[in-house]
Amino acid sequence: MSARYPLSARLLHWAMAALLLSMLCLGAAMVDRWQPWATEALQLHKALGLLALLLLLVRLLNRLRFRAPALPDEMPAAQRTIAHLSHLGLYALMLALPLTGWAMQGAAGLPQQLFGLVLPALMDADLARYGLLRELHAWLAYGLLALVLLHAGAALHHAWVRRDGLLARMGFGAGHARENAANEPAAVDGASPFAGHAAADSSEVSRP
Ligand code: HEM
Ligand code: HEM
Repeated sequence: MSARYPLSARLLHWAMAALLLSMLCLGAAMVDRWQPWATEALQLHKALGLLALLLLLVRLLNRLRFRAPALPDEMPAAQRTIAHLSHLGLYALMLALPLTGWAMQGAAGLPQQLFGLVLPALMDADLARYGLLRELHAWLAYGLLALVLLHAGAALHHAWVRRDGLLARMGFGAGHARENAANEPAAVDGASPFAGHAAADSSEVSRP
């Protein structure tokens, strides 16, 4: 039986999952830019995208406070490595998407606001760069969608086929996982909390 992620991490995980899935749908809907609601949709997209960046910064700071709870004992080393790498990939894409969006605003010579606050442009106006960033932003979004599908598929496989309590570690119900014992200090021999999951039954950090 494994421990849960701390409540703060679970709340941030599901709030951001809902926000990012909405952003992917909104982005896809915006491709049909001749719709009467296209301008409002784009404004909403930009504001929510920057909110996602803000939430990510909070999440990363919060993530430094704990180590991920232990993975199920029977999980093979290769799968642990894949899980670890896919989480790093998800974090990288969650950062890269809003940053390319924000940079795109600068390259288009448009001001960027958040809650009425004017943000600095990340680069000077340059139409050629705008084109490149626009393309990159779309590819990053496809990458996020693909990785999220794999990630969610793996989580459901653990829940429905393996029934090893992995999904409950990110859940809120009375389920399989016990309340978090992972709220322990991040540093073990100076190890980064991102370096791996806590060991199943000790305070050792297992590195994939
Ligand atoms: C997590 C954050 C974000 C996600 C998941 C996301 C996703 C997407 C997607 C899926 C598209 C459509 C891509 C396509 O052409 O197939 C798109 C377009 C776009 N996004 Fe984002 N985006 C995010 C953040 C941002 C931010 C912060 C900004 C600007 C401040 C932004 C500005 C734009 C613009 C200008 C377009 C092109 C709209 C058009 O040409 O019609 N995005 N985004
Ligand atoms: C946009 C959608 C999502 C994103 C960006 C995302 C991102 C992440 C990240 C980065 C982690 C690693 C947490 C950490 O250790 O710091 C994680 C863990 C987890 N996620 Fe998601 N997630 C998403 C959607 C989902 C969905 C839909 C499910 C379930 C169907 C899910 C289930 C889980 C579970 C069970 C864990 C813990 C796995 C483990 O520790 O090995 N996630 N997620």
